[in-house]
Amino acid sequence: MRGFRLADRFAPGWVRLSVERLSAAITARPPDRMVWSLGRGALNDAAALEALYRSAADVADRRVSGDVVECGVYNGGSVATVARALHDGRRTFWLYDSFHGMPPAGDRDGLFAQSLPAGECHGTERTARHALARAGVPADRIQVRAGWFHDTFTAPLPAAVCYLHIDADWYDSVLLSLRTFYPLVTPGGVIVLDDFGWWEGARRAFYDFVAESRIHPLVDRAGPGQLLWIKGAAHHRHLAPVWHARGQHSPEFTPTDQ
Ligand SMILES: C[S@@+](CC[C@H](N)C(=O)[O-])C[C@H]1O[C@@H](n2cnc3c(N)ncnc32)[C@H](O)[C@@H]1O
Repeated sequence: MRGFRLADRFAPGWVRLSVERLSAAITARPPDRMVWSLGRGALNDAAALEALYRSAADVADRRVSGDVVECGVYNGGSVATVARALHDGRRTFWLYDSFHGMPPAGDRDGLFAQSLPAGECHGTERTARHALARAGVPADRIQVRAGWFHDTFTAPLPAAVCYLHIDADWYDSVLLSLRTFYPLVTPGGVIVLDDFGWWEGARRAFYDFVAESRIHPLVDRAGPGQLLWIKGAAHHRHLAPVWHARGQHSPEFTPTDQ
């Protein structure tokens, strides 16, 4: 126990606070009814939306710099939930989707995924823009990149990303999303993989990406699908004291470059 207290004392403040908030993302109750209303059109359940909201609120509280990126938008219900916690009139929300539904699954996605027809999850840009507007994001803070990732990811990209939500199901889509946007995430920013527990290809893409990038992220799970982590968080030794002493840490944020 003494070891935990020492670790708690010497862990960087932003790490301590982040773990506290992320644990809250997994365990706490819904933040407000507006979030559920915004997320109604999402392909995510209430618990997953809650985790998105709380991890986004954590990023806002720690004042992590950068924009928000969602790869796999559908009708915008999830990114609107994130926006409710994070938009401040200055961050831009970058939305990447074909808006023609899913591409065909490939070999690494498993037999069930391959049995599904291409074109599922067909959302519209109009609905996604509307969802973000309802969350309070001004139109000039929304960048929609409609088309296949391998075309749109080459267009001008955000300079820095504070929150990266990847909800694109298949191996190729998830791996390309990680390769393109992870390097842009600010230390202290949050990365959420929606489909880690649902789709074999998404899980494989994660492990292939961390292997090729030689990173060892300290991951959390939120429910059966999501996997999330804070870029640069290096350990959880302080976890026990943080859980038992909520609210005692100041919200300072000291970015590190890992
Ligand atoms: C599960 S849906 C996204 C759900 C949404 N985030 C929500 O919570 O409501 C997956 C989306 O990813 C998009 N998608 C997947 N792979 C893509 C690719 N390679 N290029 C463009 N869009 C892609 C599909 O069009 C689909 O809208």
